[in-house]
Amino acid sequence: MKNNKLVVAQIGCGKFAQSQDLPNIGNHPQLELKWCCDINAGHAAEMANKYGATHSTADFNEVIADPEVDLIKIATTHEVHLPIIEAAAARGIHIFCEKPMAMEITEAYKIIRAVRRNNVKMCVDLNRRMAPSMHALRERWLRQTANPQHQSWRYIETTRPMMAEEDCTNLLINIQDESSSYGMGHMDPLYGGGIIIGESVHWLDLACWFFAPQLPIEITAWGSSRLSHGITLKFNGGDSATLVFSNSGTFDYPKEMYQVSSKAALFQNLFFVENRYWGMPDAQPEFFPLQYDPFTREVPEQGFESYMKKYRLHTERAGDNLKKIENAKPLMVDKGHVGMWNGFIDAILNGKPSPCDEIAGFMSTYLAQLAIQSIELKQTLPVPIEKITPVFV
Ligand SMILES: NC(=O)c1ccc[n+]([C@@H]2O[C@H](COP(=O)([O-])OP(=O)(O)OC[C@H]3O[C@@H](n4cnc5c(N)ncnc54)[C@H](O)[C@@H]3O)[C@@H](O)[C@H]2O)c1
Repeated sequence: MKNNKLVVAQIGCGKFAQSQDLPNIGNHPQLELKWCCDINAGHAAEMANKYGATHSTADFNEVIADPEVDLIKIATTHEVHLPIIEAAAARGIHIFCEKPMAMEITEAYKIIRAVRRNNVKMCVDLNRRMAPSMHALRERWLRQTANPQHQSWRYIETTRPMMAEEDCTNLLINIQDESSSYGMGHMDPLYGGGIIIGESVHWLDLACWFFAPQLPIEITAWGSSRLSHGITLKFNGGDSATLVFSNSGTFDYPKEMYQVSSKAALFQNLFFVENRYWGMPDAQPEFFPLQYDPFTREVPEQGFESYMKKYRLHTERAGDNLKKIENAKPLMVDKGHVGMWNGFIDAILNGKPSPCDEIAGFMSTYLAQLAIQSIELKQTLPVPIEKITPVFV
């Protein structure tokens, strides 16, 4: 701690670090950015200059050796997480790591061991679980399951018993993305591991968080283990999550839509800006502020339709290059990145549990690996209890 602030080093200063980490560190009153580290030394120096870090380097070991550093944020390519984490944990430095925490489970076990033996805190940026709209959706669903409310006109067949499946919840996650925008790093088996390891860990984690304390028991996946695919995850209480991920979509429409059906009700999350509820009397839509909104004056209203108007203005301004304007003047919904930072800093400073710890990081990688196996074998696979509750000495 320096001047009552945690001293932070950013390791990996690429696109994500610039769009989230470096601004979020700068905006947090209890953080001081000291280092920018990137294997491209010139780029690290440029980022240090831009975001007010006093030091820059191309070698993460130099960062780890600095006794002032309390916390590192890792946003490198995936394959270097383990050596960075092992070195940092050995020096008692807390670790905030981008997803996927690991590309395979032996690597995940080693990360868990390093973090636990050295008694440091770990957070994995599986950020969807920290989105305010997701918390509201889960809260509303829990209320309905605890005390189901129905429209007065609901027709229900009273002469037959309810079947067990009618009592189960289904979470549908619909992702449409445009894969021509991906760098090849995502696909490289050594650096990225494909889209299930690199991206779908988000939704495997979200499903586990949503249905906790239930545990997953069975997984079925289909499609391509590299690009478009689907995954169904069943939980031990009977609930299930289905992810449908298409890479043949367009940036002209939001990437993510969520839908929960449960107890004769429907709970929709429209791209983190609006939740709509159906089947329950008097359920009003809920609106959620954007993380970055350059159009508050042009379109002051909130909600999904307003977001789409803003997005239309955004793409009109983009001319021939959407990426350029996204970096210069972002329009961004709140997917939980800031919440994850705030939650982790609170955990470090006040001795609370991490908002997404190393076991969650392990679980999402393990389930992603099982999903890939399920695709390759064309089979449903069990999720054995002993695998998802590992014991370490
Ligand atoms: N949570 C999310 O929603 C989200 C969104 C996008 C990306 N990400 C994650 O962020 C990470 C980075 O993605 P990106 O899009 O910024 O990629 P990127 O390629 O733009 O950035 C990665 C950076 O890491 C640097 N790097 C690689 N090895 C390094 C090392 N050993 N030491 C220091 N720097 C090193 C590279 O030079 C590069 O600048 C990935 O893990 C990705 O999965 C997360």
